[in-house]
Amino acid sequence: MSLPDVLVVAPLMPFLMEALRGRFTVHDRIHASDPAAFAAVAPRIRGVVANGEAKVPRELIAQLPALEVITVFGVGYDGVDVAAAHERGVPVTNTPDVLNDDVADLAIGLLISVARRIPQADRFVRAGEWTSGPFTLSRKVSGAKLGIVGMGRIGQAIAHRATAFGMQIAYTARSPRAGVGYGYHPDAVSLAAASDFLVVITPGGAGTLGMIDADVLKALGPDGYLVNVARGTVVDQPALVDALQGGIIAGAALDVFVGEPNVPESLRNMPNVVLTPHIGSGTRQTREAMARLTFDNLCAHFAGQPLLTPVDA
Ligand code: 8YV
Repeated sequence: MSLPDVLVVAPLMPFLMEALRGRFTVHDRIHASDPAAFAAVAPRIRGVVANGEAKVPRELIAQLPALEVITVFGVGYDGVDVAAAHERGVPVTNTPDVLNDDVADLAIGLLISVARRIPQADRFVRAGEWTSGPFTLSRKVSGAKLGIVGMGRIGQAIAHRATAFGMQIAYTARSPRAGVGYGYHPDAVSLAAASDFLVVITPGGAGTLGMIDADVLKALGPDGYLVNVARGTVVDQPALVDALQGGIIAGAALDVFVGEPNVPESLRNMPNVVLTPHIGSGTRQTREAMARLTFDNLCAHFAGQPLLTPVDA
């Protein structure tokens, strides 16, 4: 009996591809690379494997009449049309919790990097400039006011770390989070006005598109810093470039961008910006845990077992 056919729609870790090939008939991104081959196998595709950045639109789901499950190698699934999948009774899974620490660690790392200008200081020493005098003073982090946009699992992990820095923590979210003892702001503008550092860790998608706009950046102010470890789409990127060029805010540290992996030259040339290539969960330990959870969700489905981490909507 042939193994269940699954369509991989994004580049996945080699160790996950190897595991998938051991249990499934894997069709790797043929929907994009080989339409004829895709048309031939589409009627028997029973599973889709995506990653946090991948697109699984309604149109693709409609081309898969035998589709039974969609599994995402990532906690974010804003590229998946979950409503279209659920209309077909097709569950969607993601990889929550296993990456909380890494994304929170990077958020704090980026915050300290942009405030203390660590990449710039590294370049200063490498360029031999230290022999001509000291590096310019930077911005203290400990005790500063931190605003967190999004108080889910990762937002709380960031707050937990920031507490150790004696930071004054507040947040905004759709509604106040039960059991969370930080100050709540009903919107991002009022949170930004009360913050020295604004960290964005809210899901992507239509609900948060351009949420961090010119008004929020203006409220954050000329001494304020933005950190984004969520999705590029949550920030109005042209407004951010204008705010950085115009001194509306002091600086930004960005792990995610609109149109990744393309990053505007304007951002790449700025001295008061720290840039990383969407590495929030980018450690071997975490990616292996994400791979295991993705694989286990897929295997659970085909074994008729309950899914481990299905998403609601
Ligand atoms: C990606 C992410 O999935 O988890 C998410 O939502 O954005 C990342 O962990 C990862 O980059 C794999 O491609």
